[in-house]
Amino acid sequence: MPPRRCFSGLTHVAAMAARGKLANVQPATGDGDLIFPNGFLWGVSTSAHQVEGDNLNNQWSAWEAAGRIKSGDRCGRACDWWSNAERDFDLAQEMGINALRISVEWSRIEPQPGVWDQPALERYRAILRGLRQRGIRPVVSLHHFTHPLWFEAMQGFLAADAPALFERFTRRVVSSLGDLCQDWVTFNEPNVYCAMGYAVGLFPPGRRGELFTTFKVLAGILRAHGRAYRAIHDLQPHGNVGWAHNYVVFEPLRPGLPFDRWIAGLHHSLFNDSFVRVIAEGKLPLGFGMVAGDLSEVRGTCDFVGLNVYGRLYVCFDPRKPAQLFGNILVPKDVPQGDPGAEGPLAEAYPGALKVAAEYAARLGKPIYILENGVPDAQDRIRPWLLVNALNELHAALRDGIDIRGYFHWTLTDNFEWNDGWRLRFGLVELDPATQRRTMRDSGRLFATIAKHNRIPGELVRRYSGNGRG
Ligand code: BGC
Repeated sequence: MPPRRCFSGLTHVAAMAARGKLANVQPATGDGDLIFPNGFLWGVSTSAHQVEGDNLNNQWSAWEAAGRIKSGDRCGRACDWWSNAERDFDLAQEMGINALRISVEWSRIEPQPGVWDQPALERYRAILRGLRQRGIRPVVSLHHFTHPLWFEAMQGFLAADAPALFERFTRRVVSSLGDLCQDWVTFNEPNVYCAMGYAVGLFPPGRRGELFTTFKVLAGILRAHGRAYRAIHDLQPHGNVGWAHNYVVFEPLRPGLPFDRWIAGLHHSLFNDSFVRVIAEGKLPLGFGMVAGDLSEVRGTCDFVGLNVYGRLYVCFDPRKPAQLFGNILVPKDVPQGDPGAEGPLAEAYPGALKVAAEYAARLGKPIYILENGVPDAQDRIRPWLLVNALNELHAALRDGIDIRGYFHWTLTDNFEWNDGWRLRFGLVELDPATQRRTMRDSGRLFATIAKHNRIPGELVRRYSGNGRG
């Protein structure tokens, strides 16, 4: 296993303190039911570009227009939420879902620098009211991979004034929507955004192998996050502010080989640990502080940690790959996997990842929300198994005293999956984008059973107790 040492031991104390709060988590009942704490959030997560449709003024629409979507699909109307998100809110309500994460599309709200679109803000007000009227708690992300073309044209988060511009946008959103929402995610997966856009080159702006630039962008996002955190608290002193952190379990392919262990640990430090380390200690690991400048202002800027957890990747040392930090990342054939994307397998569908990630994040001593977890699986081959077992792991983490407040599945209906377009289907509900017809999957019914009763029935735990291999 990669070393999990991250920020100093100080946070263990805070984690112990958080543990005391969870005395009400119950062990399994006589039937083997796993009961969750009262008030636990059963949610689904979404993002603006993937569900709203007709977002034509952000850098992902330009990426699509340039023919860069690998699957060749068009986003089009997506799930048609800009016109009718309420249809899916009805579905969510029927499923017993009590929280729903959306994101607001910066390019709709501020289509030109300093020009604000009031009707767009009104539509978001209607969306938030629609959720609340159905007893669903809204969680709003301010940045989920997309931003206006004008912002991209000035180099996005590499620009010196990016943090100030993001703060200005945040203030406008919170002043306009703050009476309807108290839970804010500043950024979705800064580590994925930076790695995919500047190291791997598969997200806009499509730059490759630029390790130092990757960390400069991360630093720009960290500063923007810190400013947004303070701005939200300024406007809404009781606001609940965090970010959504993608956590990957990096496993050495050959655990007996020190080089494989080392390279897995390096990936863990760079990918999982960097952003978290700045929140905990105000500085980046491994000397990247030299390129990033002083980040001490960002220390302590979170009220919760959001975790997006999808699975496990295997890493092995390869001296012929200096551009990949001497590492090869792969997914062995014989592990449970979702459907392959246009570029091949995504990751091992590994339920245990949830507990590993929660244990890691608990060191920050803040409440944790699992803000994404799921698998692309058009036929529902392994999603029911993954769902039950991931939730079983989550329950074990709760019993260990980790303060997890909610689980948000990715996602409600199939939606536009970035470079994989409509090829990858993550929904609890199947969507035909051409007709907009929705069909509930078995996993959707399963999730509804769990959410409505706030428990995993023992019978389901037993039914899905295999290893997911078939
Ligand atoms: C992203 C989502 C995406 C999901 C599945 C997450 O990394 O936040 O936008 O759809 O993964 O790939």
